[in-house]
Amino acid sequence: MAYSSRYSSEMRDSQPLLYGKRSLWRRLAAKWYRLDRTSRVVFSILALTICGAMVSRIIIEVVDPFDLLRGPQVTIKSKVDKNNDTGDTDKVRRQAVRAAMKHAWDGYSKYAFGHDELQPVSNMSNDKWGGWGVTLIDSLDTLHIMDLHEEFRQAVTHVASVDFSHAQDGFTTPFFEMIIRSLAGLLSAYEMSLDRRLLEKAKQVGDALLPAFNSSTGIPYSRVDVNAGRAAPSNRVCIAEAGTVQLEYWKLSELTGNPIYHKTAQRVVDILDKAEKPHKGLYPIWIDIGTGKMNSGQITFGGMGDSWYEYMLKQHIYSRGTHSQYSRMYEESIDAMKEKMVKKSVFDPDMYYVGDLDLSATRFSPKFQHLTCFVPGMLALGSKTLDRPDDLELAKKLTYTCFQMYNKTKTGLSAEYVLFRDESGKGLTGKGTDDFATVDLDSATIAEQGDGFYFGNDRSYILRPETVESLMIMYRITGDKIYKEWGWQIFLDIEKWTKTSSAYSAYHDVTSIKRNEMLTDSMESFFLAETLKYLYLLFSPVNYYSLDDYVFNTEAHPFKIMS
Ligand SMILES: *[C@@H]1O[C@H](CO)[C@@H](O)[C@H](O)[C@H]1NC(C)=O
Ligand SMILES: *[C@@H]1O[C@H](CO)[C@@H](O)[C@H](O)[C@H]1NC(C)=O
Ligand SMILES: *[C@@H]1O[C@H](CO)[C@@H](O)[C@H](O)[C@H]1NC(C)=O
Ligand SMILES: *[C@@H]1O[C@H](CO)[C@@H](O)[C@H](O)[C@H]1NC(C)=O
Repeated sequence: MAYSSRYSSEMRDSQPLLYGKRSLWRRLAAKWYRLDRTSRVVFSILALTICGAMVSRIIIEVVDPFDLLRGPQVTIKSKVDKNNDTGDTDKVRRQAVRAAMKHAWDGYSKYAFGHDELQPVSNMSNDKWGGWGVTLIDSLDTLHIMDLHEEFRQAVTHVASVDFSHAQDGFTTPFFEMIIRSLAGLLSAYEMSLDRRLLEKAKQVGDALLPAFNSSTGIPYSRVDVNAGRAAPSNRVCIAEAGTVQLEYWKLSELTGNPIYHKTAQRVVDILDKAEKPHKGLYPIWIDIGTGKMNSGQITFGGMGDSWYEYMLKQHIYSRGTHSQYSRMYEESIDAMKEKMVKKSVFDPDMYYVGDLDLSATRFSPKFQHLTCFVPGMLALGSKTLDRPDDLELAKKLTYTCFQMYNKTKTGLSAEYVLFRDESGKGLTGKGTDDFATVDLDSATIAEQGDGFYFGNDRSYILRPETVESLMIMYRITGDKIYKEWGWQIFLDIEKWTKTSSAYSAYHDVTSIKRNEMLTDSMESFFLAETLKYLYLLFSPVNYYSLDDYVFNTEAHPFKIMS
């Protein structure tokens, strides 16, 4: 867009020159008739060559060559399709979610603009993600989707001035977080607006972090010293960190025409595909960077494992099933998960959950994380894409459990994780990521039973998106309106308990109603990037950012599926 308008203003400026100086034309014509035949031919060829060069230059400027690489241009919808609306209730709910986004954005904008995070109780700001303004970047596409165009414009203007090739002194950048939040946020905002500055910045981020892959195996390190242009050395990295950057680098290759990004990131998938595993399809969370082997850590669809599995399916969707590797790997993992990791509550037979396994894939831990609540959405998407109807039935049961994690607390918000009792009356839970110890559910560490599950030590709700993400996908795939009702209930409790005068805050203990003591003065950027976006889309027509046309990265940034 920017290119064609610049071109037409140049044309206007040059018109007086072409038509104003008549005497010049007459003198040229007289000279032309005085020339001999050979000179005329030479001049004609010269003139035609110059005209040809000008015309092809114009074509390159006006028709974006990257669009040609991408194939036919898909029309971009920036407005909700008013003719295919979903009714008044949805409209009211959508507007309420939009107002929440505007409230959070206004607070951020007033007190923390350009900083990483707003602290929504004290109105202070922090730069704990490197100071490049992660909340602003993560919010770009949400602003666009909700038609908050003035805010979007201001944010883009700011982003254009940020130098991602330089970090704060002494800061080593977390590779995976920077890719899923900032690189992805810039790429999706670019696809929505076609503002070239966003693609330039995306390339700057992608290039600055590429040294992460400079290990002997090609498995990335987890942090990068951007100023020095090299990775911060470490011995191991988790599968979610190494395996949740592929979609973003692939999209960057597609949009820049440079295949190196995709090739570099794909190596990780190939290495882990071939590596030895304790059970087909199940990957222990830690990868030894020097050897590429996975021989420590537990097996989980929660934190540190989660999006590795998610991205097998999403790479399959993004590449329209043109590579059988991703669907094979995804199906192997889901089959193994269903066989070994899914159980149901002994109190409520409708409540299914996904627990963790130890390194050898033998001991089971009945701990269900809020993070794992992305699984039902993934299963539903996979059931539709790969024709696996059983997965949709399991997805319904897991979504029910994820909703109960909210519905059964005093605040209506969910804790970071819950614990289930197994048939023997004992449970297993790991305290840290490597610590996979047996814990007696009757012991003092597990204080309260929530009708079917128990709460552990961490009962915070940090404005996480996974459950509303699954609700949005479940509604779109099943058409069952109950998912909208559940999403609306969750939204109202977010409003009731976490809203501050400037934005929204994480909540320390969802089983306590002492609201003023519970607000932790923290708002992660994923609240604006994911939680509010998925709620807005839940109440939007299903063809608005349709799942047939877009694949959402793990931070809810929609990427156009490859054409
Ligand atoms: C934070 O900002 C809001 C909105 O501007 C204001 O109402 C509130 O008093 C501020 N809080 C503090 C602690 O300054
Ligand atoms: C990659 O690592 C090698 C040493 O292993 C080092 O010499 C080289 O400078 C590094 N390159 C980058 C781009 O980090
Ligand atoms: C949610 O909890 C309320 C009681 O607080 C209950 O009446 C309702 O049935 C629950 N919803 C579901 C879907 O279980
Ligand atoms: C609304 O959108 C859905 C999904 O794209 C489509 O199946 C349906 O026919 C549309 N309805 C109208 C009235 O256009």
